Amino acid sequence: MCGIVGYVGEQEAWPIIFEGLRRLEYRGYDSAGIAIIGPQGDIQLRKTVGKVNGLDESGDHPLGSVGLGHTRWATHGRPSYANAHPHTDCEQRIAVVHNGIVENYLELKRRLADAGHVFESETDSEVLTHLVEEGMDRGLSFQEAFRRMGRMVKGSQAISAVLQGDGAEICALRLGHAGGIVVAQADGQAMIGSDLPALLPLLQSESNMGQVSFLDTGEMVVVTRDGVEYQDLEGNHIDKQPRMVSQEEVQVDKAGYRHFMLKEIMEQPQAVASAMRERVNFETRRVDLPDFPLSSQEIAELDRVILIGCGTSLHAAQVGRHLVERYGGLPAEAESASEFRYRDPYISPRTLVVAIGQSGETADTVAAMQMVKDKGGRLVTICNAEGSQASRIADGSLYMRAGIEIGVASTKTFLASLTILNLLAIFLGQSRGFLDTAKSQELVDGLAQAPRLIGELLADSAVYQHLAQEYVGTDYFLFLGRGVNAPIASEGSLKLKEISYVHAEAYPAGEMKHGPIALIDNDMVTVALAPKDSLYEKVVNNVREVKARDGRVLAVLTEGDTQLAAAVDHALYIPEAPEHLIPLLTTVPLQMLAYHIALLLDRDVDQPRNLAKSVTVE
Ligand code: M6R
Repeated sequence: MCGIVGYVGEQEAWPIIFEGLRRLEYRGYDSAGIAIIGPQGDIQLRKTVGKVNGLDESGDHPLGSVGLGHTRWATHGRPSYANAHPHTDCEQRIAVVHNGIVENYLELKRRLADAGHVFESETDSEVLTHLVEEGMDRGLSFQEAFRRMGRMVKGSQAISAVLQGDGAEICALRLGHAGGIVVAQADGQAMIGSDLPALLPLLQSESNMGQVSFLDTGEMVVVTRDGVEYQDLEGNHIDKQPRMVSQEEVQVDKAGYRHFMLKEIMEQPQAVASAMRERVNFETRRVDLPDFPLSSQEIAELDRVILIGCGTSLHAAQVGRHLVERYGGLPAEAESASEFRYRDPYISPRTLVVAIGQSGETADTVAAMQMVKDKGGRLVTICNAEGSQASRIADGSLYMRAGIEIGVASTKTFLASLTILNLLAIFLGQSRGFLDTAKSQELVDGLAQAPRLIGELLADSAVYQHLAQEYVGTDYFLFLGRGVNAPIASEGSLKLKEISYVHAEAYPAGEMKHGPIALIDNDMVTVALAPKDSLYEKVVNNVREVKARDGRVLAVLTEGDTQLAAAVDHALYIPEAPEHLIPLLTTVPLQMLAYHIALLLDRDVDQPRNLAKSVTVE
């Protein structure tokens, strides 16, 4: 969840690390700090509570060409100056930054405190500093002490430390699945970071050509002016082949939009088209998934599909369940990865588990995947981040190819997921002989319209602005949908609450009369998803039940539905579309509504409070 950036080279380290932290701020923004090795070899520390920009406010930037920075998402200890990283030892020989959780920190802290170490923060991370310090006090070199610390801690994490003195030296390691470390070098400089965008200065260098190395669990990198060296935690050398990354994976730019979220919403037509690229043959009108890891025989033998994810990705899984049942012809279930991982589900080699995640690093999703793998199930991930943990664990990855998503609220990756889930369902249906040619061709023809129809929804934002003004003072929203639109109602409510901090709940519309209808009065706004699909009449009844009790209703309808429009307070429209596209379309007005309400409330749209983009802690 936190972001780490380190630099060793000949240039001033501060601006490079500062920019890198800004690019990693989507990982957390509770506090930030930078340690620079100054001209005398001493550690110069600057910290701030809140966002990275706070580091720049005094204009007092230490000079030096080696340093380590951190942006924090608080787990242990509230956001405060003392809890901000880097943490230094009492003699200021080392500065340490950390992403993840030290699971055995209490036990370590007790032992270290008994041995005389004085703790200044409430964090679990500070024990790492004291463990390295303890090793060095016992005569170990910095590297040896760092490796010893790595062998002593439990839990999933990334840790990095810089050593004072003339010899520039940064160590970083990765343990478990929670914290990635990526390394780049060019022109006598090297950088480490939690994610690719932090390394932009080196990845743009002509001599680098976008080459990076990712640490695997149990691996460590030592960065000096002489280059980088990879080791295991016993100090044995490891050969690592760098891999190429594209500029697209690295660039972070609002392209003139006020917020990343808006830019990413606007990119949805391209994201959907990109998810279909080389997977749909619009001439033969068939879906082909070259990245799908199962043979035809294995696909024929599947007897069940389980779709898992968290947050927005869980909602995608819930939509996927409907698609797989309807078009893939297989029993399908959807479940939150954070629940699934703690059950003991029956999994066999004929079970296909589809793990969905933008980051591919969500701790609960990755742990659930590992469980499936251990039980011998087949595992596919739909994820956006190439080379992520999820893609390494899975038998195969269906990449979203949505481009980097920075806004904490997932938008374009949700639509990319829904697109790939449609493709997967059709592919399974085709392969298993469940869909006849005519039906699968009809479904493919429908998908071809998706980018255009989504573009139409985004062509004019005035309608969303207008309705946001109408509803901005509302304290409670209830989102209702049925069938495949029930998870879209959940997604609409999640978008609204996470970026506007307004209370919103979602219910399958048919559940209303079993309790939630008691909430309905003139203060409660019901957002009803009532597009023209197979459950339309049922939702109409639910809407009428709300209106009969004086509830206010904002409905998402299919264009031309004048009858229901006349019965509700306000309507947003989606274009007429085949049923399998409807969830992609009903999502868009809900994203735009949430965005404009948050804007009117002056919320921090891209970095809402208490959140982070990748949730790499449990
Ligand atoms: O990276 P993932 O898709 O696995 O992340 C899971 C959730 O944390 C994420 O979908 C979250 O709910 C959204 N950012 C909310 O918009």
